[in-house]
Amino acid sequence: MTIDMDKLNAFVGRFVGDLGAAVHAGMVVIGEKLGLYKALAVQPMTSAELAARTGTDERYVREWLASQAAGEYVTYNEKTNEFSLTEEQAFALANEDSPAYLPGAFQLALGSLAAVPRIVESFRSGAGMEWGEHDENVFHGCEKFFRPGYAANLVSSWIPALQDVKGKLDSDARVADVGCGKGASTMLMAKAFPKSHFVGFDYHDASIAGARDSAKREGVADRVTFEVAKAKEYPGNDYDFVTVFDCLHDMGDPVGAATHVLRSLRKDGTWMVVEPFANDELKDNLNPVGRVYYSFSTLLCTPCSRSQEVGLCLGAQSGEARIRQVVTSAGFSRFRRATETPFNIVYEARP
Ligand SMILES: C[S@@+](CC[C@H](N)C(=O)[O-])C[C@H]1O[C@@H](n2cnc3c(N)ncnc32)[C@H](O)[C@@H]1O
Repeated sequence: MTIDMDKLNAFVGRFVGDLGAAVHAGMVVIGEKLGLYKALAVQPMTSAELAARTGTDERYVREWLASQAAGEYVTYNEKTNEFSLTEEQAFALANEDSPAYLPGAFQLALGSLAAVPRIVESFRSGAGMEWGEHDENVFHGCEKFFRPGYAANLVSSWIPALQDVKGKLDSDARVADVGCGKGASTMLMAKAFPKSHFVGFDYHDASIAGARDSAKREGVADRVTFEVAKAKEYPGNDYDFVTVFDCLHDMGDPVGAATHVLRSLRKDGTWMVVEPFANDELKDNLNPVGRVYYSFSTLLCTPCSRSQEVGLCLGAQSGEARIRQVVTSAGFSRFRRATETPFNIVYEARP
């Protein structure tokens, strides 16, 4: 066997980047929780100034700042010994309303990794792991990670890409958001369409409790309710619009869920299925976005589906052809890709 030293060095170089990124997840979560990024976004500071401003210990803050500067998440000025955020770093790390807000993704990663010992056993036994059995950073991180993308696209481009939906929402529609988690998508729709009525369903009771609190806090409890229910069992049979955001592939029986959605819709209703962006062929998903999704899918999505009846395990990278098969085999007669972003595909299904 002959080792090509250039190829080996390139691979080890890549490994160092990946190892730094792996531990960096913890650094980002620390920075967000302690308000370090937000404080730095205001003005350049030394470690002592940042520690004083945030009520933290200078020595820890100095080490954290060095890790951030080495990872190019923070900018270091060696002349003044100050650290700062560029406009772009601040937009992505300190502004929760920005469509590119990143810390939630790292919180989700950190929470998911807590399941590794259990998932090692699952590889041996084939057992599943329910959504609610994960570390709570998974639920908070998931909401924080997905909300910016929904805020940037859902009302302005995804809903308008569907036939006949926006007009109904503007007047008085009945909407079910199934697998709503902590309700980020439900609340965004409720704020944009105050004349319609929304109910969010999820089988995870703690997420539903969190969604109820948010609805009260954000002043939309008059038009949004949240209920614990499985996708195959939620009540109601006259919805104008049913949505599922990033969860059809997490379900054990997505065909059963699709069949139930069809039963719950009015004849002229619409089902919007938002799934992670994916191509049909594995070889076409072997890229950085695919790597993120396949890894989360191994820790979260596949075990979640495996823990439920049927356990179909679509995975987070199932692609349009597979989703079409699920939706049409449940009896929907129309199915199309309505729009997409680099991270999501939005499908429209109609009875
Ligand atoms: C990746 S999270 C997405 C949450 C939310 N839709 C969002 O976009 O933020 C997947 C959600 O699907 C829910 N879920 C999984 N299987 C379900 C089922 N059979 N019925 C209802 N909810 C389910 C989980 O509890 C979890 O909240």
